[in-house]
Amino acid sequence: MEDLAGKVAFITGGASGIGLGMGKAFLAEGMKVALADWSDEHIAKARAELAGNNAVHFVKANVADRDSLKAAVNEVLDHFGKIHVLCNNAGVNGGGTAASPDFEDWDKAISINLGGVVNGTKIIAPIIRAQGEGGHIVNTSSMAGVVPLPGLAAYSTAKYAVRGFSESLRMQLAPKGIGVSCLFPGATRTAIVPLPEDDPTIDAENAPQFLKDLWDAMRGAIDPEDTGRFVVEAIKENRFYIFTNREFLDEVKQRHREIEEAFPDDEPTPGRVKFESMRAAQVRDLMAPGNRPVPKEDPKAAFRGDRSASPAGGQ
Ligand SMILES: NC(=O)c1ccc[n+]([C@@H]2O[C@H](COP(=O)([O-])OP(=O)(O)OC[C@H]3O[C@@H](n4cnc5c(N)ncnc54)[C@H](O)[C@@H]3O)[C@@H](O)[C@H]2O)c1
Repeated sequence: MEDLAGKVAFITGGASGIGLGMGKAFLAEGMKVALADWSDEHIAKARAELAGNNAVHFVKANVADRDSLKAAVNEVLDHFGKIHVLCNNAGVNGGGTAASPDFEDWDKAISINLGGVVNGTKIIAPIIRAQGEGGHIVNTSSMAGVVPLPGLAAYSTAKYAVRGFSESLRMQLAPKGIGVSCLFPGATRTAIVPLPEDDPTIDAENAPQFLKDLWDAMRGAIDPEDTGRFVVEAIKENRFYIFTNREFLDEVKQRHREIEEAFPDDEPTPGRVKFESMRAAQVRDLMAPGNRPVPKEDPKAAFRGDRSASPAGGQ
C-alpha cells in the first residue's frame, strides 16, 4: 500500500508502547486509527494524550477472547466503515520456562502472544479481502522470535510461531493483493518492562541486580514512535521483515551460518529434488507481482462468515 491517507488501521495493544507508536505514525500519514486494548489504564492515558483527534477511536478488547475481539471489530466497522491495515501487536511478557511444571502462565502467554495474532487475522483478514481495496497486516513478533531469550521459553515459542504464521499468511494473501509484514523489535522503551520512575509500586532499592541492569538497558532502548515509522515504511514498500535493532545482526548471521552448516553434503535423489522444485515453484507463483483485484462484497458479510455474499466463494 503506497498511499495510506484516509485508510483505516486496527491496532491491538494499541493504547501503549509499540502499538501506540504505530498509531501515531499512521495518524501522521493521514490514516484513521482504531486502538484496541485490554487495559483501562492504558486506554485512559492514551485517550488523554490524543484528546481532540477525531481520527482515533479507542475500543476495549481482549485478543485472547474471540467474542471480545469480534465485538471490538464490529464497533470499529460501525465507526469507521472499513479496516485496511491490521496490526496484531498486543503482547505480554513472561509465561515461564520450557521445563517448569506451571501450565497456567504458559497458556496465558501463548493465548495472547500467539493466539491473539491468529484471532486477529482470522477475524479481520476476511474483512480486508471483502472490501476489495487491498490492505496490509503487520504481526508483532520479537527478536526473541529469531534468537531466543533465555528463561522466557513461552515468549520465544509464541514469537517464533508468529513468524511462521506470518510467513504462511504472506503467501496466502499475496495473490489477494494484501501485504503481510512481521515486526521483530529488540529492546524498546515501553510499559512491557516497567521502570521504577514510571511505576511507584516498584521497590527499586531492593531489586535484584539483573533487574537493575535491565532497567538501565531499557532506559536507552528504542523509542516506540521510531518503530512506528519503520512500520509505515515497510507497509509502503510491502516489505515482510521489519527489523529495528541492528545490534542483533551479528548473532543472527552466526545463527544462519549454523543452520547452513548443519545440512548434509549428500547428493539428493531426483524425487527429493522434484518435491523441492514443486514447492519452490508454488511459492514463486503465489508471490508473483500483478496479483488480480478481488471482487467487492459487504465487509460485514465476511465478518459474519456469510460465504453466500462472496462472489469469490470465500476462497
Ligand atoms: N518493548 C520491547 O522491548 C519489545 C521487544 C520485542 C517485542 N515486543 C512486542 O511488542 C508488542 C507490544 O508490546 P510493548 O512493548 O509495546 O508493551 P506495552 O505493554 O507497552 O503494550 C502492550 C499493550 O498490549 C495490551 N494487551 C496485553 N494483553 C492484551 C490482551 N489480551 N488483549 C488486548 N490488549 C492486550 C496491554 O494492555 C498494552 O497496552 C508485544 O507483542 C511485545 O511482545 C516488545
